[in-house]
Amino acid sequence: MKLVGLVGWRGMVGSVLMQRMQEEGDFDHIEPVFFTTSNPGGAAPKMAKNETTLKSALDIAELAKCEIIISCQGGDYTTEVFPQLRAAGWNGYWIDAASTLRMNDDAVIVLDPVNQAVIKNAMARGVKNYIGGNCTVSCMLIGLGGLFEQGLVEWMSSMTYQAASGGGAQHMRELLTQFGTINGTVRPLLDNPASAILEIDRTVLATQHGLSPEETKQFGVPLAGNLIPWIDKDLGNGQSKEEWKAGAETNKILGRGAGFAGTQPIPVDGLCVRIGAMRCHSQALTIKLTRDVPLDEIEDIIGSHNAWVKVVPNTREASMRELSPAAVSGALGIPVGRLRKMAMGNDYLSAFTVGDQLLWGAAEPLRRMLRIVLD
Ligand code: HSE
Repeated sequence: MKLVGLVGWRGMVGSVLMQRMQEEGDFDHIEPVFFTTSNPGGAAPKMAKNETTLKSALDIAELAKCEIIISCQGGDYTTEVFPQLRAAGWNGYWIDAASTLRMNDDAVIVLDPVNQAVIKNAMARGVKNYIGGNCTVSCMLIGLGGLFEQGLVEWMSSMTYQAASGGGAQHMRELLTQFGTINGTVRPLLDNPASAILEIDRTVLATQHGLSPEETKQFGVPLAGNLIPWIDKDLGNGQSKEEWKAGAETNKILGRGAGFAGTQPIPVDGLCVRIGAMRCHSQALTIKLTRDVPLDEIEDIIGSHNAWVKVVPNTREASMRELSPAAVSGALGIPVGRLRKMAMGNDYLSAFTVGDQLLWGAAEPLRRMLRIVLD
């Protein structure tokens, strides 16, 4: 069995990955080696077989023994360790959740239900770096992959509603802490049915403005009862890095544009917004179709693309019940709803989709890539 190094398996994405690997029996097909940055020599988790102690994640010689390494340790780790490993002559498969290597020419962004051909092609060429995509992009493509596959997307605008988890575990805690602080200040007023709603509102606002630096350490501003219309770095051209990724990564996943001879990129752009959801990213999409296709055909194309996408009828009831972070959290299904032709014309389609950003948005493409390498 192949030695597979696991780095960052204890963090949030890593824990979801471990859970999914156990659910899918992935450990039956590998000899896992668990690495750590903080506790070398400690006991490996129960999935360990022969290697029952934790190895140092900074020990290049130990890492280099592995034929495959999966890292959920984060970008700083990749930046530090990956070049050393390759410089030491390691030629194994590097499968990584971090964005560091994503856009490199010698790396493929993995999302096999959408780009299996791109992955297989790269493997045949000897490419050894396989990187998970941006969560928003991956969830969108599992949902809308059918339209891209059929060449129906001329351009797409994505307006996102991204959950706290995209920032990390501490961000989720901070959101809940803020909700708690706000609730605490208005509790007596809420308990009194005769209290004035505008007094409650004033108190909430004053509490949001008065949150301590400790309570806004991760987001910098309140997120509870609020939103933040900027995610990731400022690229200096009015666009956030998260917004740039939508176009850059979508096209790289699809094998279009720069680096893919004879293809044109599909413009994908929009605004990325952080909202107070826990771990599901939602997106409202405006899609300019390359031609006018009847809505029932569009629903068939979207719904039959892969095993996880589900078309939600465009009704109030179904949208409220099935098309929300609370409905989707913890599940691999990607609902796509609010499908209708827009007032701009029959070749303009609206859609809304929701995805668990820790599953299809992070862990799932990595473990599926592992299985592709093992096949
Ligand atoms: N950049 C994403 C976010 C995280 O902040 O929501 C996952 O790619």
